[in-house]
Amino acid sequence: MTLMQKLTETKDYIQSQGVKDVDFGLILGSGLGELAEEITDRVVIPYETIPNFPVSTVVGHVGQLVYGTLSGKKVLAMQGRFHYYEGHSMQTVTFPVRVMKALGADSLIVTNAAGGCNTSFSPGDLMLITDQINYTGDNPLMGLNEDELGPRFPDMSEPYSHAYGEVAKKVAQELKITLQKGVYMGFSGPTYETPAEVRMARLMGADAVGMSTVPEVIVANHMSMKVLGITCVTNLAAGMQANLNHEEVVETTERVKADFKELVKQTLAL
Ligand code: 6GU
Repeated sequence: MTLMQKLTETKDYIQSQGVKDVDFGLILGSGLGELAEEITDRVVIPYETIPNFPVSTVVGHVGQLVYGTLSGKKVLAMQGRFHYYEGHSMQTVTFPVRVMKALGADSLIVTNAAGGCNTSFSPGDLMLITDQINYTGDNPLMGLNEDELGPRFPDMSEPYSHAYGEVAKKVAQELKITLQKGVYMGFSGPTYETPAEVRMARLMGADAVGMSTVPEVIVANHMSMKVLGITCVTNLAAGMQANLNHEEVVETTERVKADFKELVKQTLAL
């Protein structure tokens, strides 16, 4: 099946489950999925029932789409995302973003947990993503271009919407939430970086390092979607603190998720 055929099949199935118009796509990262529980008039669709969707394998990541109303907007949220390190192709990782656009979403809010490599960051900080570096060694747009979806050589000069970022900054200020801003550098994972890789990332201009988001944002830009990206800095990267572990990532997201949820909800409202 071609990508366009798969998209049609998946879109038709999701619509048959009661998903009507979508204003915003929402990708909820590690530990941040709880926001989906606040969506009202819900339609919940487990990934394993959706044609052409893979099944996510990471512990602590639920795998379902949640559609409904949040802050007065029609949202389609991914509670759990697909990662490149799970062995999925980048085309597979980004397929849900294609589906969101096919269902009508012109904007995408992406969230993630990441390690801070900016020395002025602290664990628990939220960071507005202003730009990204694709350090995965791959690209979801490799192969034949689907001209109906977007251009062969997409512009990436504003991967994250400045205007939308300004809205998030204003909301953070009103809520008295510290919102750092910076560049997200995407690695393939699943290993965390070495101390030398973290120094390299910082030298290259990164403020946070992670294992997601970059492919989805490339595909969103391919289709001219407006993107807002929020990182939860769950820990400092290797060489900047003691050993890293996934438990700490989970603990920190637990601690800051109330602020995170308010920030996203109130930004969505505007
Ligand atoms: Cl330090 N690195 C990466 N790649 N992902 C992370 C992280 C670090 N901390 C949380 N997620």
